[in-house]
Amino acid sequence: MSSEERADKLPDGDRAFTAVELSQFDGSNPENPIYVAVKGVVFDVSKSRAMYAPGCGYNVFAGRDASRALALSSVKVEDCIPDRSGLSEEQQATLDKWEQFYRKKYNIIGTVA
Ligand code: HEM
Repeated sequence: MSSEERADKLPDGDRAFTAVELSQFDGSNPENPIYVAVKGVVFDVSKSRAMYAPGCGYNVFAGRDASRALALSSVKVEDCIPDRSGLSEEQQATLDKWEQFYRKKYNIIGTVA
């Protein structure tokens, strides 16, 4: 980790999740952290509970790899899937920007298969 990164960030974790394991971290248990995955990388978004907890606007992303929805600028549950097939260049670029956003803001817990 470079010294330019945020002081509140932990070293990257290397925990390997299945999709079912990741789904446990959807905010429905207030004692558990909330995780969101982007392009297979799992981020701890717990510090933004106000956006990701049940009833909040982005809860649809919680406990999932939401890559397709981020690429499409969608909050539809059916788009919150890891499938990146058939995306346009522009949609892939949008997704890549979101990946960079999450990498900057959140700690990495691991990866999802
Ligand atoms: C009317 C439409 C929308 C409005 C007004 C809106 C507004 C916002 C605002 C104000 C934030 C910053 C919240 C904060 O930092 O406290 C935000 C973050 C975000 N928005 Fe939206 N948004 C809209 C649509 C969407 C859509 C369609 C998506 C789907 C990809 C999306 C994805 C996100 C994500 C991923 C974040 C970052 C959350 C985080 O910080 O972890 N937004 N939005």
